[in-house]
Amino acid sequence: MMKLGLFFEGCGHHIAAWRDPDVDAHARQSLAHYVEIAQLAERGKFDFLFTADTNATFGPDDADAWARTMAASRLEPITLLSALAAVTQRIGLVATATTTYFEPFHVARFFASLDQISGGRAGWNLVTSLAVAEAYNFGREAHASHADRYARAHEFAKVVLGLWDSWEDDAVIADKEHGLYLDRAKLHFLNHKGQHFSVRGPLTVHRSPQGHPVIVQAGQSEDGRELAAETAEVIFTVQQDLEAGRAFYADVKRRAGAYGRSPDSIKIMPGVMTAIGHTRAEAEDKYGRLQALIAPEIGVKQLSAYFGMDLSTFPLDGPVPEPANTNQEVGRVKVMVELARRENLSIRQLYQRVIGQRAHRVVIGTPADIADGLEQWFTAGAADGFNILPLTFPGGLRDFVDLVVPELQRRSLFRADYEGHTLREHLGLPRPLNRWSTSAAAGLRRVS
Ligand SMILES: Cc1cc2nc3c(=O)[nH]c(=O)nc-3n(C[C@H](O)[C@H](O)[C@H](O)COP(=O)(O)O)c2cc1C
Repeated sequence: MMKLGLFFEGCGHHIAAWRDPDVDAHARQSLAHYVEIAQLAERGKFDFLFTADTNATFGPDDADAWARTMAASRLEPITLLSALAAVTQRIGLVATATTTYFEPFHVARFFASLDQISGGRAGWNLVTSLAVAEAYNFGREAHASHADRYARAHEFAKVVLGLWDSWEDDAVIADKEHGLYLDRAKLHFLNHKGQHFSVRGPLTVHRSPQGHPVIVQAGQSEDGRELAAETAEVIFTVQQDLEAGRAFYADVKRRAGAYGRSPDSIKIMPGVMTAIGHTRAEAEDKYGRLQALIAPEIGVKQLSAYFGMDLSTFPLDGPVPEPANTNQEVGRVKVMVELARRENLSIRQLYQRVIGQRAHRVVIGTPADIADGLEQWFTAGAADGFNILPLTFPGGLRDFVDLVVPELQRRSLFRADYEGHTLREHLGLPRPLNRWSTSAAAGLRRVS
């Protein structure tokens, strides 16, 4: 069965969603708005909710662009998902946390706590941060280099995984008669000393019902793919072309094999923006109305931010130049350039094709058209599931839940109901063993 994540983003994924007449543009930071989205997605049996994050404004570092988009407005994700954990029972809760501007102990504790309070439904989207502006909020003049960010991320992931093994499943004994709360032999120091971190541990949060949170990633560069192949259990990706999507899928699963991992231990989930109508014309109209709201200067500014150069100095209807080496994200920009070359697009045509949904694929049409668009990639070996980006919230999501989910269920492509209670059970991922409680731990225990 295909896996479905809901990428929820304020008022909708289209950059102009907040201007849609059916959207409450003041709902961006209202809990009630997100409660409605979370419960709607759970009614649609989605595997998880996902919220992105940057510790700074998103996109162009430009106040004019902020004034005309929602880029400067964002709630802190763990705070939000903790609130949503209390009003949902089954749906997974995935949030982003950067390895470049956090310490591993913080991240391990945030997500282990969310995993505890949600009964094992947490996931961590490990990113190295794509927003250069984040550096300015953490006492730095510049963003660390792409290579340095990934080197730190490798060690960061190791430390977090180590801390998540601090408590064995049965460490807490709560023996009131003998005054023993926990079994000292089942709580472990990490004593990590590495190039970037020195972390003693133990973590303060007990082991969760699903062992530990699911690790998600979205890197597409060479470094990104290697880190994902070694540590990720879910991979988000930006893909426009089916063959490129299949090649990415096969490449990452092959790399995972080199780390002794089975292909099923990783779920690859491309992003898909959906514009749904009872007729194709109605769907085209919904998408077209928002597209028409992208002002050329905003479109060019957004594209320039990805390309790391001011594209307004080039003819708008002229060819797309090669991007500068931005030290930001590699994979998504590569997808944009390949699209422009493949279809010989001008700068105007390219921003119109990608800026509305940050280069994710767009599927427009009736519920059957949307189901076809998903089924094709799922059966062609380009995806284990999809990160769904509704045009608007809650309307675009309601259309997906009420119209597309039943169509996918009718085709036996998607679950009729939740199988289990934890995110791992939804995704068909094994509960990880604790390194201390396996037979191999005997040796380890002697040294801890
Ligand atoms: C679906 C998706 C969600 C992402 N979410 C975030 C995010 O929340 N915060 C962030 O800084 N980067 C986010 N990214 C960017 C990636 O983490 C990564 O930086 C980007 O894909 C470039 O990686 P690369 O340079 O290895 O190709 C996301 C990417 C994708 C495809």
